[in-house]
Amino acid sequence: MKTLGLIHSTIRADEKLIIEAARKKNIQVKLIDIRTQIFNPETFVLDFDVALERSVSTVKGDYAIKFLENLGVPVVNFSEVAAVCGDKFLTSLALRKVTVPTPDFAMVFTLNQAVEAIKKIGGYPVVIKPAIGSWGRLLAKINDSDSLETVVEHKEVLGGPHQKAIYIQQYIEKPGHDIRAFVIGGKVICAIYRDSKHWITNTARGGVASNCPVTKELSKICKQASEAVGGGILAIDLFETKDGYLINEINHTMEFKNSEEPTGVSISSAIVDYCVEQVG
Ligand SMILES: Nc1ncnc2c1ncn2[C@@H]1O[C@H](COP(=O)(O)OP(=O)(O)O)[C@@H](O)[C@H]1O
Ligand SMILES: [Mg+2]
Repeated sequence: MKTLGLIHSTIRADEKLIIEAARKKNIQVKLIDIRTQIFNPETFVLDFDVALERSVSTVKGDYAIKFLENLGVPVVNFSEVAAVCGDKFLTSLALRKVTVPTPDFAMVFTLNQAVEAIKKIGGYPVVIKPAIGSWGRLLAKINDSDSLETVVEHKEVLGGPHQKAIYIQQYIEKPGHDIRAFVIGGKVICAIYRDSKHWITNTARGGVASNCPVTKELSKICKQASEAVGGGILAIDLFETKDGYLINEINHTMEFKNSEEPTGVSISSAIVDYCVEQVG
């Protein structure tokens, strides 16, 4: 029998769904609480066949992935995938390199550079967001040079080292929602619309999930985007425009608890199946 090592911190509703899905399939789950582990290759006991990284903290999760990869255990997702998806600038670069449509973007470090970069992107509005971040936190829609100046100054004076790297993205008008597609092994298993009156549509910020039909076009761009970042289990955020879809960002340890009900798809079951398939 195969054992799935579930690397976790707080067990959220998402992890509970994964544990339950594994139980239904008679897959043994070894809970690996990242807060109690000693990642020392001399002493670590390897008693699972594949690991799924679900730590809330990206930094800690990344170390666990790298440690287990070093010991030769299959890990979902690969550290290379986590490295690209964990950083929005690296994701944008990876997509652009293989011409997967994505909003225009730039990385700058000063106000002057930001002013020039925004001209080249096509002007205001733009979005400034932490390259490393989630849940819609610290996103700023910049409508004019006054707000640009303020946000850049706040970052320079108050921000930690990561906040001083200014990732700028073209603002894309949405029809009241964006799309999140759940992609496993390059296949879109389901997708949701996230509706909100606010321009930030994360469900963590009150966006409401409803089923989004998986069209051929959606499948195609998501497959390309998944390949561009190295595949695995991904949640891809997209915008719809009159010229087709644009990939906004890609998440490598996705939350999906609000999406099983509207889509009728057991995302947790597909996650467990994919992990088990990784065992050689
Ligand atoms: N460039 C943009 N244009 C329009 N809306 C955006 C843009 N960037 C982000 N948003 C909105 O903010 C949400 C959160 O942004 P996202 O880039 O996905 O960061 P996070 O990692 O915090 O989810 C998106 O789902 C979308 O609703
Ligand atoms: Mg997002």
